[in-house]
This record gives sequence, structure tokens and C-alpha cells, in this order.
Amino acid sequence: MAVANQKGGVAKTTTVHSLGVASAQLGRRVLLVDLDPQACLTYSLGFDPDRVERSLHDVFVQRAEMADIILPIPEVEGLDLAPATIDLAGSEVHLLTRTGREHVLARGLAPVLERYDLVLIDCPPSLGVLTINGLTAAHSVVIPLQCEALSHRGVGQLMETIEDVRAFANADLAVRGIIATMYDSRTKHSRTIVEEVEERYGIPVLQPPVRKSIRFAEAPAQGKSILQHAPTSAGAVAYRHLAQVLMAPSGSTVDALAETVGNPVQVGSGIPTGFDVFADDPATNVPLGAVVHPVDARGEPERFDPADGAGGQSVQSDDGNLAPLSVVETA
Ligand SMILES: Nc1ncnc2c1ncn2[C@@H]1O[C@H](COP(=O)(O)OP(=O)(O)O)[C@@H](O)[C@H]1O
Ligand SMILES: [Mg+2]
Repeated sequence: MAVANQKGGVAKTTTVHSLGVASAQLGRRVLLVDLDPQACLTYSLGFDPDRVERSLHDVFVQRAEMADIILPIPEVEGLDLAPATIDLAGSEVHLLTRTGREHVLARGLAPVLERYDLVLIDCPPSLGVLTINGLTAAHSVVIPLQCEALSHRGVGQLMETIEDVRAFANADLAVRGIIATMYDSRTKHSRTIVEEVEERYGIPVLQPPVRKSIRFAEAPAQGKSILQHAPTSAGAVAYRHLAQVLMAPSGSTVDALAETVGNPVQVGSGIPTGFDVFADDPATNVPLGAVVHPVDARGEPERFDPADGAGGQSVQSDDGNLAPLSVVETA
């Protein structure tokens, strides 16, 4: 799955890192591919890109096999990285001179695919040959979208590139959906932009959106994702939720998953360990941060913030809406 948007700073790298850790924590074998010469993903996974010996660049110039460059992430079982270094900027030039240049990443990945359940590709902030390689190697693409004015113009260009890739290199490339990032549920603005993009391009918006939070800025310098740094924060919960949605067979929803473990849920009782319980604001579908995280042996909620005092089958959001609880399996 490629994560692409030619705009920088829309949370592509954060999304790849967070979904990767969330999926690995759910028991999947995951490879993260850092296709950005700025190597932010490599850095945020705890590696110094200046000291990484071999990177994707070596695969692109046929100096190494993919298997030789892959690094395990020590703190997260099941998570590996194909790292980037600044040399990758040179790969662009090299790739442009090769025939079949769109397929170089796909070919490089082929021998290691059977080792993984999921490969997540972090594309650079451009629509150049590296991003095209990412889109050509992928079955599907997810588009992080920062909800601000004019965001949709970038989506139009990206969709044109995706059409080209479908026409010339990868006919089956599916657009899985948009992830609304740095979402501010207090402004009507954010909601309107997401709806506009959904309508104009017919791309589904994946639930839930990821709200703006300072906790995201704290994590990368520690070589950690928000799932490790602040596992019960709304951002971590949102990405866990999204990882579930993306791994579910297409067509099935989180609600369907919730059904399988039995809704409605009684807060504070009967929630087995290994399940997350969410409450989304029915007006915005934004997680309220009302997270029951039943991790202790008695199945007691570890934390249940805004709904303090509330119980039963719903919680009350700030604007007085009643939000039904849903349950997602985490183990
Ligand atoms: N939900 C969020 N709330 C606040 N800051 C975020 C959020 N998601 C990402 N960020 C921050 O925004 C910046 C850009 O994110 P990044 O993932 O590097 O974007 P991209 O890869 O698209 O350039 C980073 O500093 C990151 O920590
Ligand atoms: Mg990035």
C-alpha cells in the first residue's frame, strides 16, 4: 500500500509509521519502505540516515538486493524497514535513464513479498519517478489530506498521476481512501473540506480522522511512533482504528467488526482484554478521545476521559450528542 500526496507536511510519514506499528502490534509482519530522499521515516524509526550503510538507492542502482538492505526495528516485533538515505535523490536521475523505470521498486520488492503481510510505502512529496515507482509497486494507495483550503487541488493532480500509472504501469491500482490528518473537529472548515474532496473525486474518506495533537511532534525525535510514545492518546487510537479498517477485507467496516464482539458494550464491565472501545462523535465521526482501554486483568477501563461518570452504551460529547460505543479487536 502506497501512502502518497505530493504536498509535504500532510502526515504521510507519520501515517506510514503509525499504521506500520499498529499493524505489527496486531500481529502482522510489516515492511515499511522509505522512498523519500529526506529519509524522515528512516530517522523517525531511530536510524541516523547518514550512517545507514545500504539503502533503497543501492537496490535502484543494482548494487544490492532488497533483502540485503532491510533493517529490523528492534522495539517492534514484526516490523522491518527498507531505509532511505540522501543518495536516493541520485536514484531519481539514474532511474530516468532506465527502461522500465517505473517498475524498479516493484521488481526489487518481489523476492521479499512472501515474508510480509503488509508493505507500506512512504512516498516523497513530489509526483516524480520515485512516487511513480511507489504507485506502480502498490495494490492500493491511501492519501493523507490535511484539511485546509485548496487541499483538493493537490488531490486532482495526484488523481491524474494515478490514472497515468494505471494506464501505463499498474492497471489494478486501487484508491483505498483519504485519511483526514491534523483534523480540527472544532472548525466546520475541516469537515467541509473533507466532504468536498469526497464528493468531487469520489474517494471514500476513511474513518476516523486523525485529530491535530502535539503528541505527534514529540515522538519522532525518540525514534518512536505515537503508538509507543502515547499509546492511549486519541491519535494512537485513531491510527489503531485505521489499521483495523485497512486490514479488514474490503467492504467490511469497523461496525461489522464491532458486531463480531458484541455491541452494545457496558463500560467498565465485560470488555475482554485485547479490545479497544471507541466512541465517535455522531455529528463528526471524530473519536472523542473517550477511550476505554481495557488492559488490566479485571477488564476494567484504564482510562475513560471525557465521559467521566458516564456509563452504559453511549457517552456524551462536548456538544451534547450521544455517541454510541464501538469495539475493535486489538489482539
Ligand atoms: N495529527 C497530527 N497532529 C499534529 N501534528 C502532526 C499530526 N500528524 C503529523 N504531524 C506532524 O506534522 C509534521 C509533518 O508530518 P509528516 O508525517 O512528516 O508529513 P509528510 O511525510 O507528509 O511530509 C511532523 O512534524 C509531524 O510530527
Ligand atoms: Mg514524509
